[in-house]
Amino acid sequence: MKESNNLILAPSILNSNFTNLYSQIKEIEKGGAEWIHLDIMDGHFVPNISFGPLIVQTVNSITDLFLDAHLMIDNPEKFIEMFKDAGSDLITIHIEVCDNIHKSIESIKNLGISVGVSLNPDTPIEKIIDIVPYVDLVLIMTVFPGFGGQEFIPYTLDKVKKLKEIAGKNNDKLLIQVDGGITIENIRKIADAGANVFVVGSAIFHQPNIEEAVKKFRNILGI
Ligand code: DX5
Ligand code: ZN
Repeated sequence: MKESNNLILAPSILNSNFTNLYSQIKEIEKGGAEWIHLDIMDGHFVPNISFGPLIVQTVNSITDLFLDAHLMIDNPEKFIEMFKDAGSDLITIHIEVCDNIHKSIESIKNLGISVGVSLNPDTPIEKIIDIVPYVDLVLIMTVFPGFGGQEFIPYTLDKVKKLKEIAGKNNDKLLIQVDGGITIENIRKIADAGANVFVVGSAIFHQPNIEEAVKKFRNILGI
């Protein structure tokens, strides 16, 4: 895993054109993105269903980029092994659905991959303070999960700033990821607030030239 002082762009394939997944991922690679973000949705925790381990396996067969699986699902611990076996390098679960978050974190770590915890916009940052020392990444949702193409929720920026402070005291290697409504116009401000991993979906995949869009985001981040 990269150190938290490097900024990382993680395009989300949720809004990609699945009839052309192979070539779109190749364009992401050529643009220089470091990660691929995989939005897994079960229709229970979020009001949408996306894709599962089969697509993760397909993406894994196409690229060597770091695969960042965001499980927006109930009972995630039942599925982490499947997502790890499909090729996930990092698995992020939601604090809202874990009755024993420490046990869930341990079970992901025991698979030998990196672990993240995510919180919805209306979940207070205080909910995750005590797990910060034990995870590689915290994902602050900057939209309510379920769909790409939503507007960034401004109050989530305060959560990024607060988490940056907490990480400074408890885990200075922590990756602070943001996901939802990230655009060319707002990404710099979000980076300045302390985020270092940026999930971008429609602002990349809805562009006529995906490779150029990735390069534009990376230029703004200075990576
Ligand atoms: C929401 C998804 C989206 C997606 C990014 O559940 O997690 O946030 O990754 O989509 P855009 O960048 O289009 O908001
Ligand atoms: Zn996501």
